[in-house]
Amino acid sequence: MPSIITELPGPRSREIIETARTYEPRSMGDQVPVVWDHAQGCVIWDVDGNEFLDWSSGVLVASVGHCHPYYVEQVKSQCDRVFNCYDFVNEPRAELAKKLVEITPPHLEKAFLVTTGSDATEAAIRMARRAHDGYEVVGFDGAFHGRTLGAAAAGGMGSTRRGYGPLTPGFLQAPFPYVYRAPICKGKSEDECAQACLEYLDWVVEHQSEGRLCAVITEPYQGGAGGIVPPRAWMEGLQEWCRERDLIFILDEVQSSFGRTGEMFFMDHWGLEPDLVCLGKGLGSGVPCSAVVGTSEIMDALPPGSMSSTNGGNPISCTAALAAIEIIERERLVENAARMGELFERRFLEMQAEVPQLGQVRVTGLMGGLEFVKDPETKEPAPELARQTIWEAFQRGLICIAPIGLYNNVVRVAPPLVITEEQANESLDIFEEALHAAVAETG
Ligand SMILES: Cc1ncc(COP(=O)(O)O)c(C=O)c1O
Repeated sequence: MPSIITELPGPRSREIIETARTYEPRSMGDQVPVVWDHAQGCVIWDVDGNEFLDWSSGVLVASVGHCHPYYVEQVKSQCDRVFNCYDFVNEPRAELAKKLVEITPPHLEKAFLVTTGSDATEAAIRMARRAHDGYEVVGFDGAFHGRTLGAAAAGGMGSTRRGYGPLTPGFLQAPFPYVYRAPICKGKSEDECAQACLEYLDWVVEHQSEGRLCAVITEPYQGGAGGIVPPRAWMEGLQEWCRERDLIFILDEVQSSFGRTGEMFFMDHWGLEPDLVCLGKGLGSGVPCSAVVGTSEIMDALPPGSMSSTNGGNPISCTAALAAIEIIERERLVENAARMGELFERRFLEMQAEVPQLGQVRVTGLMGGLEFVKDPETKEPAPELARQTIWEAFQRGLICIAPIGLYNNVVRVAPPLVITEEQANESLDIFEEALHAAVAETG
């Protein structure tokens, strides 16, 4: 359980942050001022000896918990063997590709290993363009697929797109059914909003396309935009829309996979059958590793030598990913995420009954987005309240990621999947206290 023994930030944290501020650019997230020293499971210790509970998992990465002993042992043993062999085949890579094909839906037959989530979304887009006659890709408002220029063009967040000049051409932008807030959804039920967004897709194509469509890319739920799960009818309709037009359906599960939402992959909730699936984050569970899993028809359209990567599929990453998947399966972490998610949702809804500024509670497994507003009627975003709640939680021993969402008014809840019921309740108690303190502080 958390133990805070210095003022926060502690003196050593302050010193190191000062060095970072001097020698690093300020482009990174504005996280609470704490310097992690080590972490185990769901607990983080800072360089001053303070002990915190973790609702970040890094950034939804350490799904099997920080420094899981089996994971550490497997990675260490691979470190004695070989680190990098470029795209010469190595055994962990071959085994990981096999495992990914085995645990994803049967129509997906090949897996391509890379390093970051952006590598995976870029690779999927390249594959789609190579395998199809067209080149245009439809993406959605509010989407986040990474920060490389192609991935940013596929995405729809102003913060990743604006200020960098023209992005990669060939991307169309359509509305996403953010039922709580998108103008197209105003006054509409989930189903009506789903229908309106699907109809608008045709409008977008009619007015934006050169007639050279090839693919559609979406996250199953929008992570960076605030953990927004679309209506199931929209996602199923979108898949159908792709099928009818012979377009490649790319599902970006970089964030939503490996148990995070209470199923191994989000697509398992709804029986989706995308042609290409992007994976990352929890796949490596710490050591960077990402992948695209897809149909042979698409993946084999690329001739030998046309796509590989310096670090992609290296034996350390692949060993880490194999260990992480083994732990997720052996320790039944998918089931734990589903069970703990119910507890988190119940507690957040209780908090919402007392704090109307908690405008919307969105919880699926251990992926949560708490959207703060100044007034539940007007839904005016309340970024200060989100930030203050995170600060108050930090002061009490709970680490959350800096606010997310289109208006920076969403607190993300993403503990490692190994969280116990006791840790869940303890962290929720801290959060509840922090929330009330933040409301009092920000008025
Ligand atoms: C859905 C999704 N796609 C892609 C990415 C990009 O991953 P990375 O930061 O590893 O490049 C992220 C990262 O948050 C993500 O959430």
